[in-house]
Amino acid sequence: MSFQLKEWSSERLEQVEQALSAWVPSDAPARLGDAMRYAVLDGGKRLRPLLVLGASDAVGGNGGAALRAACAVELIHAYSLVHDDLPCMDNDVLRRGKPTVHVAFGEATALLAGDALQALAFQLLAPDDARIPDRTQARLCRLLALAAGGAGMAGGQAIDLAAVGKSLTEDELRHMHRLKTGALLQASVMMGAACGEAPAQALAGLEGYGRALGLAFQVVDDILDVTADSATLGKTAGKDAAQDKPTYVSMLGLDRARAYAAELLEQARAALATTGLADTRALLELAETVVHREN
Ligand code: IPE
Ligand code: IPE
Ligand code: MG
Ligand code: MG
Ligand code: MG
Repeated sequence: MSFQLKEWSSERLEQVEQALSAWVPSDAPARLGDAMRYAVLDGGKRLRPLLVLGASDAVGGNGGAALRAACAVELIHAYSLVHDDLPCMDNDVLRRGKPTVHVAFGEATALLAGDALQALAFQLLAPDDARIPDRTQARLCRLLALAAGGAGMAGGQAIDLAAVGKSLTEDELRHMHRLKTGALLQASVMMGAACGEAPAQALAGLEGYGRALGLAFQVVDDILDVTADSATLGKTAGKDAAQDKPTYVSMLGLDRARAYAAELLEQARAALATTGLADTRALLELAETVVHREN
């Protein structure tokens, strides 16, 4: 029977939405809970959770651990968006088709919502639940911490801000994109794999897949900032040029940026083929969606 990504993902997306809604509390004081839920629920493509679940499926992982990992990585991502949109960073007013968190709740509450979402992510990964072995919990925390911190997303965001108005070399731009966006996407794949016991060859292949897909994702984000409109994106189009950010489009132009995204998709496919895993169809199709998406 042919594989249908839509069918595979709709069931998993529903699980993720329900789990996020159950796990993100509304009772944090002084509207903090409301801001956290506003930042996380009702929006977003949920690509990172799908990558976690796709990789976990491919290695026959522990389903309970995978759902927690899927939600944890989405919480870190949602927090990164709340902070990315703050006036001191990209100063954006539209996100996921709604006013940004700082517009709706104020800057201080947006800052704290990000802080609290980050803490909650790690809380989800370390439950007092013997069905998820301590070893798995520790691995998941380590992978997420490395991808979110100074050597990953936060470090990449620091480079991004320091690079405004500058022209970076191709190596520098690639490095920035790998950190600010690629690290968390690659970690999503590796966290899914960490929910099972994959052989070294499979882990190496999945790592290569996540690395190529992670970079491709931000190359396409740079392209869509130029080619799509705000209604389609659910965020303000044309921001990168307006804020003088170095991007793959500013460096290579649209055609070569598109060609590079296609090349990265081929790299992701080739890496998947080396895993020796029996069923990587979901991961393969997710990579295609990353490169061919419209928002
Ligand atoms: C946007 O990520 C921010 C970047 C890392 C480029 P997504 O495009 O995955 O945003 P959502 O989650 O679908 O809103
Ligand atoms: C954001 O990159 C990356 C993170 C949030 C870590 P961008 O600034 O390009 O993301 P968008 O375009 O605002 O979604
Ligand atoms: Mg930014
Ligand atoms: Mg931004
Ligand atoms: Mg962008």
